[in-house]
Amino acid sequence: MAKVKIENTTIPYAMPVCLVGATVKGKPTFMTVAWFSKVNGQPPMFMVSLENPRYTAEGIKENGVFSINLPGKSLAEKTDYCGMVSGRKTDKSGVFKVEYGEHKAPMIAECPVCYELKLKQTFDLVDSRLFIGEVVEAYADGMYLTDKKLDVSKTEQLQLIESPAAGYYDQGKQFEKAFSIGKKLMK
Ligand SMILES: Cc1cc2nc3c(=O)[nH]c(=O)nc-3n(C[C@H](O)[C@H](O)[C@H](O)COP(=O)(O)O)c2cc1C
Repeated sequence: MAKVKIENTTIPYAMPVCLVGATVKGKPTFMTVAWFSKVNGQPPMFMVSLENPRYTAEGIKENGVFSINLPGKSLAEKTDYCGMVSGRKTDKSGVFKVEYGEHKAPMIAECPVCYELKLKQTFDLVDSRLFIGEVVEAYADGMYLTDKKLDVSKTEQLQLIESPAAGYYDQGKQFEKAFSIGKKLMK
């Protein structure tokens, strides 16, 4: 079937949503980020893309540490809120119960999984800045483990489909094993 042109801003796939945490002017603050990805294997590194000027970015630059917190779907309302109000005008330090990791990054107690990262590199795009951080610690709440391993069926990771209509989704069900099903085609 012939393709037709569609809006080049269409992003119809689900992106995991995270909350990026940093300390700004001595207080924890969190912003919602969907432009987030793993970008290196060993050591593990993540990248978040923050449009300019985000208040949270000031804390990342100031301290060189930040957190990435993965909310479940029960945190959709608070996550949406943190994505609509800026710490520049509204104090977001009381939205979540805050815990500190070994590297002093503020993390969200209610999130099933939290990472502490050390800022390694930034990269300027047209109206955004990429922050690339090395994961120095990863934490999971015990209630989301099965046989001492993280159980993604319990975390209900919040996801976003940005366009054509922005909406939240929870993590879909696994239907096949990755790095496995394709082996059937290997000769
Ligand atoms: C679902 C969702 C995803 C978002 N993803 C991003 C993102 O990837 N990058 C970004 O710069 N802003 C993103 N935002 C917007 C920021 O979270 C928002 O501007 C926030 O108020 C910034 O907070 P701050 O100024 O306190 O840092 C997103 C908002 C929502 C609701």
